[in-house]
Amino acid sequence: MQNGSLQTERLQESLLSVKLGVNIDHVAQVRQARKGMVPDPILAAQIAEKGGADAITVHLREDRRHIQDKDVQFLRKIIKTKLNLEMACAEEMVSFACKLKPEDVCLVPEKREELTTEGGLDVVSHKGKIEKTILRLKKAGISVSLFIDPEVEQIESAKEIGADCVELHTGLYANAKNNLREKIEYRKLVQAGAFARECGLILNAGHGLDYENVTQVAKIFQMHELNIGFSIVARAIFIGMEQAVKEMKALIVG
Ligand code: PXP
Repeated sequence: MQNGSLQTERLQESLLSVKLGVNIDHVAQVRQARKGMVPDPILAAQIAEKGGADAITVHLREDRRHIQDKDVQFLRKIIKTKLNLEMACAEEMVSFACKLKPEDVCLVPEKREELTTEGGLDVVSHKGKIEKTILRLKKAGISVSLFIDPEVEQIESAKEIGADCVELHTGLYANAKNNLREKIEYRKLVQAGAFARECGLILNAGHGLDYENVTQVAKIFQMHELNIGFSIVARAIFIGMEQAVKEMKALIVG
């Protein structure tokens, strides 16, 4: 799809309601603890779709600590919504994505020793490499999002090098230790969101969102999609995946 029509289609969608991308990495993480077959992330994705997920998100990490190549290949075939592949800007991953052709790729920074993605991609400092990657992915028909901190310079660079979308890192807002810090971080998200939309970028957000802090982020003007994993999988342990997704969806749509 051409960039302009993708933008228009997604803008129209975000005016209807905010979308929910369910990240199933943590289901695979439990499976990998025993290197067995269960719990099955594929089944989790199917149940998440039943609960109202608009997209399934997976992060294929270079160390393959949770999601495996075969999981992504299988998901590509069976999910009914769309596949959002998070990955590092590395040759191995770019070739994999170009063959697999998920609807969306979200480029993220990746460090082997981190527990989860820490901080956004530094687009300003790595413009050349990221621009080449975006070009290759877009040629393969994939929409490209960059996971960035809510900063004007990062958004400007994302626009300049041809990204379709930015996913704002909500970690500092989600982990704020007091109300004042939370307000400051929220304000940054609102301002960055407005600027991204002014630049014509599709606006997504994610990281650390849960059943308490999600509503505010979903209210940000023209928010298109929220990608949420940990809190949904944690709640699913007690109430099941379908209900955990339904509850999250109700919060972001409501
Ligand atoms: N978006 C991105 C780019 C991420 O890297 C992650 C974590 O894998 C998420 C969203 C989801 O974060 P969480 O698991 O804290 O909901």
